[in-house]
Amino acid sequence: ASSNMIKVAVVGGEGIGPEVTAQSRRILGWFATRRGVPMALREAQYGLIPYLATGKVLPEDTANAMDEADAILWGATGGPETKEVPAEARKAGGLLSLRQKYDLYANLRPIRANPALSESSPLKARILKDVDFVIIRELTSGIYFGEPRGIEKLPDGQRRGFNTEQYTTSQVRRVARSAFELARTRRGKVCSVDKANVLETSVLWREEVTALRAEEFRDVELSHMYVDNAAMQIVRDPAQFDVMVTGNIFGDILSDCAAMASGSLGMLPSASLGPVDRYGRRKALYEPVHGSAPDIAGRGIANPLGSIQSVIMMLRMTLNRPEDADLLEKAVDLALANGARTADIAEAGMRKLSTKEMGDAVLAALDRVA
Ligand code: NAI
Ligand code: MG
Repeated sequence: ASSNMIKVAVVGGEGIGPEVTAQSRRILGWFATRRGVPMALREAQYGLIPYLATGKVLPEDTANAMDEADAILWGATGGPETKEVPAEARKAGGLLSLRQKYDLYANLRPIRANPALSESSPLKARILKDVDFVIIRELTSGIYFGEPRGIEKLPDGQRRGFNTEQYTTSQVRRVARSAFELARTRRGKVCSVDKANVLETSVLWREEVTALRAEEFRDVELSHMYVDNAAMQIVRDPAQFDVMVTGNIFGDILSDCAAMASGSLGMLPSASLGPVDRYGRRKALYEPVHGSAPDIAGRGIANPLGSIQSVIMMLRMTLNRPEDADLLEKAVDLALANGARTADIAEAGMRKLSTKEMGDAVLAALDRVA
């Protein structure tokens, strides 16, 4: 591959991971051949299958492909396969440790309410109108990683569990920077979510986000919101948000809550971004928000749109092809408007497409909008 080729590692993983990823792989192929997007694709295995062959869930070849890649398209891991791999081997190549290894600190989850799917959301169509925002969740720090942590025995015989919420200046600033930069490409608004009325980490968070804006992002509008109010506002009036930035645990909860605006878990894409290196490159892992869905794995009925919409994010953020990203977005909308539905988003009486048929529908729509 020549040096202008962008390296993409495609790792389907386990459960429905390989099924949905096969469809996004076809979409990437379409952009490579039909639109000349310069990418070098490398497919690699992860999970039980390579474990049985090599003794590693993350074999050398896959680790190399991921190390070298500018972008990783990830499927899913987990499920019943997990039990067949000893915990030790599982942990050595786990997704959490990969996120740490590549320092993927900014987790982006776009929330877009598709008008064609408003029936499958528990929220009212009136509330879903114009919903289009991105939650950026800090992914490598906060209470999930703070020390000390543990469960201890107290003298009176009770047990006490404890964790430590923590954020440093640079950890706050780098994720806030991602939010301000993203807002500049959108509607120019950042809402920072914290619990500064109670938590010191949140006081620091709020001060640092405010200072960074004053220093470098005065053109971006910044507001602050307490996390409890944010949860309510996401359900009451989600259209008010453009970019929301928050810490690890708040982001975990708020993004699942916001997911309901999109109708199905199977629709949702995500991107996890690392630091910008000295050549201006930024490692990124793109994956659907859902997991390996063991209850439907192997049946060819999973919704591939979470994975396919992750390709929209890859086109925009790693491949630098905003027009192609818009094209794919239009194609997904067109396929849905034409009634293409997998089982998870089908209403009564609609034909249920297989995973591959949904891929076909998006490819056909791409041919029409291109
Ligand atoms: P899940 O997302 O795999 O499934 C939850 C429910 O949503 C299931 O009923 C499933 O059938 C449905 N669903 C999920 N994706 C779908 C799709 N594309 N189309 C249609 N229906 C879909 O979450 P669950 O059941 O909690 O976890 C299963 C396994 O996945 C666990 O081992 C978990 O650790 C793992 N997991 C892995 C993730 C990753 O690799 N990033 C993320 C989340 C969970
Ligand atoms: Mg979660």
